[in-house]
Amino acid sequence: MKNYRLLLVGFGNVGQGFAQLLIDRKDALAADFGCSFTIVGVTTRSRGSVYATDGLDPQALLDAVQSGILNGVDCDHTGWSVEDMLANAEADIMVETSYTNLETAEPASSYIRQALQNGMHVSTANKGPVALNYAELAGLANEKGLQLQAEGTVMSGTPAVALGLDQLKAAGVTQVKGILNGTTNYILTQMEDGMSYADALKVAQDLGYAEADPAGDVEGHDAAGKVVILANMLLNAGIKPADVATDGITNISSADVDAAKAAGERWKLIGAIEVVDGAIKASVSPQRLSTAHPLANVMGATNAITYTTEAMGDVTLIGAGAGRVETGYSILQDLLAIHRLAG
Ligand code: HSE
Repeated sequence: MKNYRLLLVGFGNVGQGFAQLLIDRKDALAADFGCSFTIVGVTTRSRGSVYATDGLDPQALLDAVQSGILNGVDCDHTGWSVEDMLANAEADIMVETSYTNLETAEPASSYIRQALQNGMHVSTANKGPVALNYAELAGLANEKGLQLQAEGTVMSGTPAVALGLDQLKAAGVTQVKGILNGTTNYILTQMEDGMSYADALKVAQDLGYAEADPAGDVEGHDAAGKVVILANMLLNAGIKPADVATDGITNISSADVDAAKAAGERWKLIGAIEVVDGAIKASVSPQRLSTAHPLANVMGATNAITYTTEAMGDVTLIGAGAGRVETGYSILQDLLAIHRLAG
């Protein structure tokens, strides 16, 4: 049995969903994959920081974080900063789920660099560093003989990245088209059922789909970040968010939604990447799709992606795009990929 020592940077919804899965899937992971995972350190911005050489109890971490502070759990050290933890912890893998900044990608990029420099593999669900610095960070990982995995950055634990990067890579991907933002798809779905834009956005916020600043969702920037991630990870496009022609749903009115419905169509916010004569064209825009189109029938907060390939034609994947356990599951996939590739 191979055991991996984990350092968790960030312990919000995603980290907690992951810790819950480690508890729930422990026996299956051992039986099916021959591996186990021990959380040795957790650092957070506002809920403390704990480290134990022999491992922390995941259930105790979940109970403690609910009560507001981690530092009371049974451990050897409290209060280490992320930098101290990365310098002092004995760990194999850093699980990075700190907050997303799509403009600077910090502090997450610095944490990832430090972890790789210190010999740790990295799993991140953070869109910022992958959208802005993927080539550099993947290059550093490669140089060090380490893995950088980021399944959760697009469509949470629905394996959209692995599908393109592993299973369909050899089929020759020529186009990627997807509903990559749950908040906007939820709003458009509710508007079709008669809810106002403002009310639908409020519910999407209450349900936890929206970003801290929902402008990032409705103006298309969150979807654009995911388009950049896919273009750079799958196609080595080397593009930035500013290279994506981006339009959100803020100008779509209830009347527009009704007019589309009357014509047998539906508005969807579509992220697209096309390879045209060897050049990459990337965009995010609201589009009216016929209800016969596979992406037109993806409703609510659900996401979907269609890969167009030379050898396999179109392959479409539909599934969760956000959520505590769903994004936590992406971390588990990353760890199993590390186990397969480097274990
Ligand atoms: N705000 C994002 C969405 C969360 O609505 O899809 C997942 O990245």
